[in-house]
Amino acid sequence: MRLLVTGASGLLGLNLALEASQHHTVFGVVRENPIKLDAFEVLQTDLLAPKAVEDMLEHIQPDAIIHCAALAHVDACEDDPTEARRINAELPGFLAAKTAEEAIPFVQVSTDGVFDGQRGDYTEADEPNPLSIYARTKLEGEGYVSEFHPGAIIARANMFGWSPSGQRSLAEFFYNNLSANNPVKGFTDVYFCPLLVNDLAQILLAMLDKKLTGLYHTVSSDCISKYDFGVAIARRFGLDESLITAISVDDAGLSAARSPKLTLSSEKLARDLGQPIPTIEEGMERFHSLHKENYPQKLQEMRGVPSKS
Ligand SMILES: NC(=O)c1ccc[n+]([C@@H]2O[C@H](COP(=O)([O-])OP(=O)(O)OC[C@H]3O[C@@H](n4cnc5c(N)ncnc54)[C@H](OP(=O)(O)O)[C@@H]3O)[C@@H](O)[C@H]2O)c1
Repeated sequence: MRLLVTGASGLLGLNLALEASQHHTVFGVVRENPIKLDAFEVLQTDLLAPKAVEDMLEHIQPDAIIHCAALAHVDACEDDPTEARRINAELPGFLAAKTAEEAIPFVQVSTDGVFDGQRGDYTEADEPNPLSIYARTKLEGEGYVSEFHPGAIIARANMFGWSPSGQRSLAEFFYNNLSANNPVKGFTDVYFCPLLVNDLAQILLAMLDKKLTGLYHTVSSDCISKYDFGVAIARRFGLDESLITAISVDDAGLSAARSPKLTLSSEKLARDLGQPIPTIEEGMERFHSLHKENYPQKLQEMRGVPSKS
């Protein structure tokens, strides 16, 4: 399969493109941050530029697309709602429309943050109520994708893992700071169900393989508070967990509203895939094994020199 992965310089996109390149011919699209590697072909393009999507599809002729590119920084979206809407809503809509014309399977990666987190235990049947501009634009993107490409997969994710920048995921935040003996804060009242990004990658590929369509919660099979997640990292890596202060998210002074109980059910995913979804502990084990294999360093060595900034 010729698989096109957008956002291939990001946390999910690079890990996914690397996992996929073991079985498929992968093309990774990046914008400002080039990557240098032999595992797959890299194209550098701003997908918002005129004709960029058409040229990319013409050049690659993909058999499937997993769209990971996004403005995924919650606070950056609050700062620039127009750009957030263009990248997170209009771009996936346009890609979905173009791929639907040629019946190309399309996966839109969305977020657990479409829920307000008041109740928790959300299934795919529950009504979203996004609180931030990031989440609102991602939900709008979901809407366009399902309208223009009804056979597309929409995967609401939450993830952790090793990233090319070395600082993209919450797990890296805890690992980096605790390794440097820096005190950090962990929210005791924000819950989530993060999947290891490498497991998420394999799940997205399995969903394509099984020809699933529609909306799925692609999260771990259990959930945890952000404070306990930090403690779990400290314990797995033998770091000092007393450096983590337990606080409430209300005392953190964040500009974008956060959803406190982002616990989502992955039961539909497990049932339709016919396989169990990893637990956070299983993901943590693999996160640790990857570290022992120097995987974080290898990812960081793949980074080229940014073309801007
Ligand atoms: N990270 C999380 O915890 C999390 C949680 C839930 C859902 N998600 C979703 O998962 C997906 C991947 O997130 P991530 O954290 O891996 O993202 P990320 O690390 O922030 O990377 C974003 C990627 O999008 C690319 N991009 C942005 N604008 C672009 C444009 N105009 N044209 C081409 N490429 C563009 C970036 O390219 P350059 O860097 O080269 O400019 C980068 O490769 C997103 O859909 C996000 O909403 C993420």
